[in-house]
Amino acid sequence: MAARVDALYFFLLAISVFFSLLIAGLIVYYAVKYRRRSPQSVGAPMHGSLLLELGWTVVPLMITMVIFVWGASVYFAMASPPDGTLNIYVVGKQWMWKFQHLDGQREINELHVPVGRDVKLITTSEDVIHDFFVPAFRVKADVLPGRYVSIWFHATRPGRYHIMCAEYCGTRHSGMTGEVIVMEPSEYQSWLSGGMAEGSLASAGEKLFLDLACVTCHRADLQGRGPVLQGLFGKTVALQNGETIVADEGYIRESILNPGAKITAGFQPIMPSFQGLITEEQLLQLIEYVKSLGAQPETPPARQTPPTAPASGETTPVRK
Ligand code: CUA
Repeated sequence: MAARVDALYFFLLAISVFFSLLIAGLIVYYAVKYRRRSPQSVGAPMHGSLLLELGWTVVPLMITMVIFVWGASVYFAMASPPDGTLNIYVVGKQWMWKFQHLDGQREINELHVPVGRDVKLITTSEDVIHDFFVPAFRVKADVLPGRYVSIWFHATRPGRYHIMCAEYCGTRHSGMTGEVIVMEPSEYQSWLSGGMAEGSLASAGEKLFLDLACVTCHRADLQGRGPVLQGLFGKTVALQNGETIVADEGYIRESILNPGAKITAGFQPIMPSFQGLITEEQLLQLIEYVKSLGAQPETPPARQTPPTAPASGETTPVRK
């Protein structure tokens, strides 16, 4: 993205320099040319000029429209990650950057990525607003508590690049720095396999899903008291209030921390909140686990059908 951002930036700079010199030059030139030559001289009366006024309206309009369309196209390219990105979670914290690779590697203030790959960072904060900034990549985004903000980049050259926090976040804000380490794909692979991984993020999420007993309600067989999570990610969910929502990271996060906020149509608001019980990292594990769940075994029946009583009869499904 750097070349595109720079091209726009230099265009803005060139326009500013051109008009600054033009205006300043004309002021000096006319001040000399039309200077008062005798104490009695009076300026010529002016009655406006349609051509001139149209000119100084239309020309700046066209220039600013070029800036607008150009800027918008760069912005949209930045804001929409391509498909097939390498996804990495970023958690900002006073005062460090925590990175979580899907394979399980965790890093603090260092981010290893392969060269020549589209990398998407899914960022969040566990305390205040930070801002993830890699100047060399021209990549910069506010990192917000309670939300997932995605940014992406495509590193073209191996090397080490500064990470900065670009939002004042407290005493040691200026020390909240790090490095992106861009490696050749083969080096990256050997770095990835270089120990310390405790299994993939999704498998850690699965373990948590069992430990927290989520599995007792969110069953794969449509008999659970909670919605089936298989194949949920990225789908549109019908809510009890008639609205719909796309099941993205933010929705899953909210459903874990504040389950009553968006009830899936056909279910009771019986899920307890996990606010304060799990960390940001554990939330990411659960989200990755939900993402990893494949397609639903069968399409859910209309929610009006009465639930079939479980064979063992140990629980009474409250789904309507
Ligand atoms: Cu984090 Cu400034």
